[in-house]
Amino acid sequence: MARPTGKQNYGRVVLVSCLALLAAGLVADFLWASSHRFSSVGMSLPSSVIGQLPPNSNGKDTEKKKDKLRERKLSATFQDLAAPELKWEKMAAAPVPRLDGAAIQIRNFLYVFAGYGTIDIVHSHVDIYNFVDNTWGGRFDMPKEMAHSHLGMVTDGRYIYIVTGQYGPQCRGPTAKTFVLDTDTNSWSDFVPLPVPRYAPATQLWRGRLHVMGGSRENRHTPGLEHWSIAVKDGKAMEKEWRSEIPIPRGGPHRACVVVDDRLFVIGGQEGDFMAKPGSPIFKCSRRMEVVFSDVYMLDEEMKWKVMPSMPKPDSHIEFAWKVVNNSIVIVGGTTEKHPETKKMVLVGEIFQFNLNKMKWYVIGKLPYRVKTTLVGYWEGQLYFTSGQRDKGPDDPAPRKVMADMWRTKLILNP
Ligand SMILES: *[C@@H]1O[C@H](CO)[C@@H](O)[C@H](O)[C@H]1NC(C)=O
Repeated sequence: MARPTGKQNYGRVVLVSCLALLAAGLVADFLWASSHRFSSVGMSLPSSVIGQLPPNSNGKDTEKKKDKLRERKLSATFQDLAAPELKWEKMAAAPVPRLDGAAIQIRNFLYVFAGYGTIDIVHSHVDIYNFVDNTWGGRFDMPKEMAHSHLGMVTDGRYIYIVTGQYGPQCRGPTAKTFVLDTDTNSWSDFVPLPVPRYAPATQLWRGRLHVMGGSRENRHTPGLEHWSIAVKDGKAMEKEWRSEIPIPRGGPHRACVVVDDRLFVIGGQEGDFMAKPGSPIFKCSRRMEVVFSDVYMLDEEMKWKVMPSMPKPDSHIEFAWKVVNNSIVIVGGTTEKHPETKKMVLVGEIFQFNLNKMKWYVIGKLPYRVKTTLVGYWEGQLYFTSGQRDKGPDDPAPRKVMADMWRTKLILNP
C-alpha cells in the first residue's frame, strides 16, 4: 500500500481515502457503462457547479416536472462552453481504435502508442501517421514488458522516453519499467526504472533532465506527489539513479506537462481514478470518484511552483492532447467535473489556447464531438487529433465509443 510522504500530504490523502470509501459501493463498468446511475455521495462541488444545480423539489407535482425538465437540459449541455464552430475534415482513420494511448510528433510523423482497444484488450504496438501524405503505416511492436496505457512519454526530437504506466487491460497494476525508442532506427532500449510505478505521471525533458511527477500511486486512485528527475543525453541516462525533486502541488494522473521557453507547465488533471475491484481475478475496473481540476502550475529557474491562470474549466485526460504553436499551448478535449446529478463522467468538446505572451486562456473552437484522451499533432497550419473515447451524442456528454478517426481543422489562434 502506498503511504503518504509527509504531514502536509496526509490531510489530502485521508480526504481522498474517505471519498474513495464513500464511493466504494458505487461500482460500474468503467468505460462503457454510462447507463449506470450513481447515488449521490457527500461531496463538495465547485461553486460554479453548485450555481447550476436545480433547486430541491418541494414535493409538488408541477415543481417536480419542472425539475425534471431542468435536469434534462442540464444533462444535455452540462459544462459545455460557448466556442467558435470550426470546419473539420475527416482524414484516414487509425488502424485501431485507442483509448488512453500515447502520442509523440517528430517532424511530419505522429507516433501513436499502446492504448485500450476495448476494456479487455490492450495494444502493444506503434502506428505512425505521416502528415505529408496523410497515411498510416510503419506499424511495429513495443517491448513485451512495456506498459499499455497511462504512460509518461516525451521526446528530444529523436529519442522517445517511455516511463512507467499500467500493464495490461481493465484496471491492472502499473510497472516501473522504462524504455527508450530511437526513432531513427525504430529500436528499443531499456532505461533506469522509475523508483516506484505510477499511472499517467506528468513527464517532460527540461534542462537536460527527464522529469516525472504526480500520477496515481500503485492502487490507481491515490494521487502521488513525488517528482523525480534524471540526467539524459541521446537516449541514455547520465546518472545511475533518479533524484528527488520538489513535489508537485497537487498529485494525480492525466495532466498536460509542457516545456516552453525554459519553463515547465503542468496543466489540469485529476485526483483519484477507477480502481481494480478488490478480489477480482481480472482486475475489473470499478468507479471511484475523481476530482478534476483546472489548476496550472509552472516551474522556472527558481525551482519553486508558481500558480498560473486556471483553465476555462476543469480538464483531465489531456496528457497527449496538446501542441505548442506560436508560443501558445493548445489543448484538445478531455474530461471535466462529473455530472452533479448522474455522477457520470462528462467529456469536453472544446479546444483551449493558453497564450503565453499574454498568460491568458481562450476557448478557440468546438470539436466534432466531446472526446477524452485525444492524440494531437500539428502540421502546416492544421491541427490534427485522433483516437480517444467520444460522447454518447450531442445531448449526452458521457463517454461511449473508443475511436480510430483522425480529424483536422485550420488552427486559428488569438495572437
Ligand atoms: C504563427 O505565426 C506566424 C508568423 O507570425 C503566422 O504566419 C502563422 O499564421 C501563425 N500560426 C497560427 C496558427 O496562428
